[in-house]
Amino acid sequence: MSLIPKETVDQILAQADITEVVGDFVSLKKKGQNMWACCPFHHEKSPSFSVSPAKGIYKCFGCGKAGNSVQFIMDVEGTSFPEALKYLAKKYGIDVPEDNPTPEYAKEQSERDSLFIVSDFANKHFQERLHKHEQGSIGQSYLKQRGLSGNTIRKFELGYSLDEWTDLTDSALKAGYQQKYLESTGLTIAREDGKKFDRFRGRVMFPIHNVSGRVIGFGARTLKSNDKKSPKYLNSPESDIYHKSNVLYGLFQAKQALRMQDMCYMVEGYLDVLSLHQGGIENVVASSGTSLTEGQIKLISRYTQNITVLYDGDAAGIKASLRGIDLILENGLNVDVVTFPEGEDPDSYIQKVGDTAFKAYLKEHAQDFISFKTSLYATEAKGNPVRKAEAIREIVTSIAKIPDSIKRTVFFRSCSLIFDIDEQVLISEYNKMQLQDRLQPKTGSPEMDSMPFPEEVEPEKPASDTDVLVRYEREIVRMLLNYPDKMLDEGMTTCQYMLEQLEDVEFRTPLYSRFMVLIKEKLCESVVPTAEDFINYPDQEIRTEATNLLSDPHELSHNWETHSIFVPTELDLLPYGAERAVLRLKWRNVELLMKNEMEKLRLVTDPQEQDRQLQTIFMLKQLHSQLGDMLGIVVNR
Ligand code: UTP
Ligand code: MN
Repeated sequence: MSLIPKETVDQILAQADITEVVGDFVSLKKKGQNMWACCPFHHEKSPSFSVSPAKGIYKCFGCGKAGNSVQFIMDVEGTSFPEALKYLAKKYGIDVPEDNPTPEYAKEQSERDSLFIVSDFANKHFQERLHKHEQGSIGQSYLKQRGLSGNTIRKFELGYSLDEWTDLTDSALKAGYQQKYLESTGLTIAREDGKKFDRFRGRVMFPIHNVSGRVIGFGARTLKSNDKKSPKYLNSPESDIYHKSNVLYGLFQAKQALRMQDMCYMVEGYLDVLSLHQGGIENVVASSGTSLTEGQIKLISRYTQNITVLYDGDAAGIKASLRGIDLILENGLNVDVVTFPEGEDPDSYIQKVGDTAFKAYLKEHAQDFISFKTSLYATEAKGNPVRKAEAIREIVTSIAKIPDSIKRTVFFRSCSLIFDIDEQVLISEYNKMQLQDRLQPKTGSPEMDSMPFPEEVEPEKPASDTDVLVRYEREIVRMLLNYPDKMLDEGMTTCQYMLEQLEDVEFRTPLYSRFMVLIKEKLCESVVPTAEDFINYPDQEIRTEATNLLSDPHELSHNWETHSIFVPTELDLLPYGAERAVLRLKWRNVELLMKNEMEKLRLVTDPQEQDRQLQTIFMLKQLHSQLGDMLGIVVNR
């Protein structure tokens, strides 16, 4: 698995504070013993995502995601276990003794890790070229001329690629990096005749980071303003670590500000991001010239539900990007729009008018998207009824995307004012659209989607034997994990008591059976198994379930607490609870055994054998009713 030494892993786990780790992504509010937030993994309006500082875990009661701080990073960044550990190591300044890029090492790494590592090398190389190489001064003076300060250049790790064919490729190979990774990141281009050369030459380099700050690709701007042959910007191609549709330029540097300002400015270009940042507007990201994707919107919505799109002056470009905005609406986010005077983009405009005037301009000119789109079409459709009908349909399409019905109503009203038509006309257009939508088979499951009425809900199935058994086994494991070394009446710990009682009981659910084996192993070594053992266990399935079991809400209702009535906690009643959990599982197991033996009986023909079988069943029946009595269950005899 990972090459990170065990001591380092332990150190990371010990230092990674769950509230700090999670707090980088969502803003937590304390309520009771836990912290709460809206879940970063699914869309919701009221918080069902909880963090327990005491247990070091998070759990969403809405979507079920749960785990410790490493799992959180894996979930939120979509990384592997070692990558998540490295992220945390970086955050807490813990040295991971493996940044030693010998060729052997590079080979051992997983493909993705190798791509990260080679991108990191290139990033450092380009920065070194910008700051130290004699050719770098060309890049430096260009950036100065674009108004960027040394601070901004360092913060965004800008670099320069020499105007030579193989500067990067040669340096990387010499340092021991493999050519295949240089090629799969697109840094090196190999021609069919075997000749290799650098993709980026004589350009200012903009490294693109993922949310955790690792370099995954580059944008590169030429310094030649009149060269028609090569494009102004060259970008890294898609790779295993760089998926354009899931990346926003500047997000890593903007994260904190997005949450603090609870708003995200969306611009088009690298330099727009840099200039705004430098002017004190740090909550800004760029889609890098492409139209916005669902993945990018999901990324933003982890931090804020409010987006303001900053448009360059030209109307054609605006029209082309309107669809992308419908996508934002569909995801339930709020969209405002600011346009700039003809010929200006956010970068040129802030450079022209200065920070203060720019901020004032944003405030003054922000317009909600629907009104913006409506005005855009309204001017166009003036005096042309056909165009007007089209325009109305166009706008109603956007309004229809908004999931919130109250917001929809507000927009119908403002739209009716701008167009000077009856609100009811818009609403009936909307209803017509909805109906068509429902009648039209969508891709996927045509039969179901074409039904205009909701299907009947299937009646809930009664719990099967195995369902019940799973529940009982789970309950045992839950108690073992939560109270392993609590003393019960008998002067035994929960672990000792349960394992002794259940010695002959074989767990039938594979997952819980594994838990039992692990607990037994610990006890055999005379160690008490702790919650951390399981929350940090290498196997994902064990980790997730352990987290769930440790965060089950066995909390008291606040009602009781506020009336200061004494209510026994689970811990107070543990001896009783543990005994009952054991009895229940045994009872259920005996029942299943009994059923099993009865089945066998039907197949037995030999009278002697039949007799023996009946004996067994009788014994089991007795045991079953004994256990039932102890549980206070009335059994048909
Ligand atoms: P623009 O072409 O609008 O940028 O591209 P700009 O503001 O004029 O560029 P500067 O200010 O002179 O540097 C906006 C964005 O579109 C992408 C880049 O991400 C760029 O930042 N783009 C543009 C490309 O990827 N390739 C291109 O050839 C041009
Ligand atoms: Mn520009």
